[in-house]
Amino acid sequence: MKQIKVLLIVLLISSIFKGHSQEKIWNETKVEKEKRMAWWVNDRFGMFIHFGLYSLPARHEWVANKEHISSEEYQKYFEEFNPDLYDPSQWAHLAKEAGMRYAVITTKHHEGFTLFDSKLTNYKVTITPYGKDLLKEWVDAFRAEGIKIGFYYSVIDWHHPDYTIDRIHPLRPNNKEDYAVLNKNRDMKKYRKYMHAQVEELLTNYGEVNMLWFDFTFPGEHGKTREDWNSVKLMKMVRKLQPNIIVNERLDLKDYPGGWDFTTPEQFKLSEWPTYKGEQIPWETCQTFSGSWGYHRDEMTWKNERQLLVLLIESVSKGGNLLLNVGPDGRGSIDYRAKEALQKIGHWTKFNNRSIYGCTQAPDKFNVPENTLLTYNSKTNRLYIHLLDYPLQNFTLNGYKGKVKYAQFLHDASEIQFTELHGTWAFGGEGGKDSIKDGAINLSLPVKKPPFEIPVIELILK
Ligand code: GLC
Repeated sequence: MKQIKVLLIVLLISSIFKGHSQEKIWNETKVEKEKRMAWWVNDRFGMFIHFGLYSLPARHEWVANKEHISSEEYQKYFEEFNPDLYDPSQWAHLAKEAGMRYAVITTKHHEGFTLFDSKLTNYKVTITPYGKDLLKEWVDAFRAEGIKIGFYYSVIDWHHPDYTIDRIHPLRPNNKEDYAVLNKNRDMKKYRKYMHAQVEELLTNYGEVNMLWFDFTFPGEHGKTREDWNSVKLMKMVRKLQPNIIVNERLDLKDYPGGWDFTTPEQFKLSEWPTYKGEQIPWETCQTFSGSWGYHRDEMTWKNERQLLVLLIESVSKGGNLLLNVGPDGRGSIDYRAKEALQKIGHWTKFNNRSIYGCTQAPDKFNVPENTLLTYNSKTNRLYIHLLDYPLQNFTLNGYKGKVKYAQFLHDASEIQFTELHGTWAFGGEGGKDSIKDGAINLSLPVKKPPFEIPVIELILK
């Protein structure tokens, strides 16, 4: 009887323990994590690159899924893959000029084709007419420009014969009953082994990799879960091979300490800094210039300069990063529309990047004036007001009295004169929306808007 009691107590304690603490993937303190991620939080702006066989059909990187294309039919793109204009140093230069500090490239997308010389497959770039390790050239060129390098790797694989057919696979059946038949000879265990080994290659053969971007887990009926990837084992290997690497959250390990580093809202505008278990978390939104990640010849919904700048500024104003995508074409060049967009962003960032790098959400004590976005640099104690809609000459900042030492435009360091306002009324009279509540300053702006899509005021704080 006594023994049974002891056993029950042991079982109870161990079940409590299990319920409250998830297995750790990586042993790291909060401070250590912050240090590891410091460059990424500082740099804020990266280039996403979707390049693969899908650049040839030029109808979206999901073309195989959308048009139910079998591997046999898809083979023609493999046979024609020869990006003769590929010049990664030109890509790196474009990224740098746009103000991007890191870049993430699709080493393998859902189509299963690798841009690197994998020993585990023949479905790789070195066997195509191009014949060289394209990734190696890319890594060298981006490193030479001082841009941090990131690898996107799709855990989904529409080419591998052991990868089971799921609801997004090009060969998905119309009837639910047919999945079992189609998957009879497919073995995820074998695919998992292959996929883990490819990730190992990527993290072993290219020197230090700064970021890893897994894509993606989709549980539910005929989906894929973290068990399908064996995410825990995979992530443990990643941490072991590259202890400084920064990894996204798409292996679905949110509840595991060390299982992820940042969250990735895709094509989505956040209304506030996201949290997990009550704490603000690192985040990066990924966005396209137009409605496709891979090169899409006929897609015409391109964002304009203003929309792109707002994406960048708004991310930083909520403590996040922006990963902006280019889809090079089948010859390996970044087309004129993307080039133009990058150059426009570059013109702005060249003169205004101080409001981006090293910046984050402004402290709550600063009111956000109408039609503006605020960012803040805690090291230099400067506040940045981005003027989305250029105001009139008198620009009153409620609640700023006694806080500002000096004001200037960021792009040309020209002084903006200001006065501290006294009393309770400004220009709108007493009592209304325009009355002064907590002490205000009035900036005197030039009537003519400076020659930037979104001008920035830099306030040097007391
Ligand atoms: C996705 C898509 C994809 C794209 C990616 C970028 O989940 O499947 O094509 O590569 O997100 O975030």
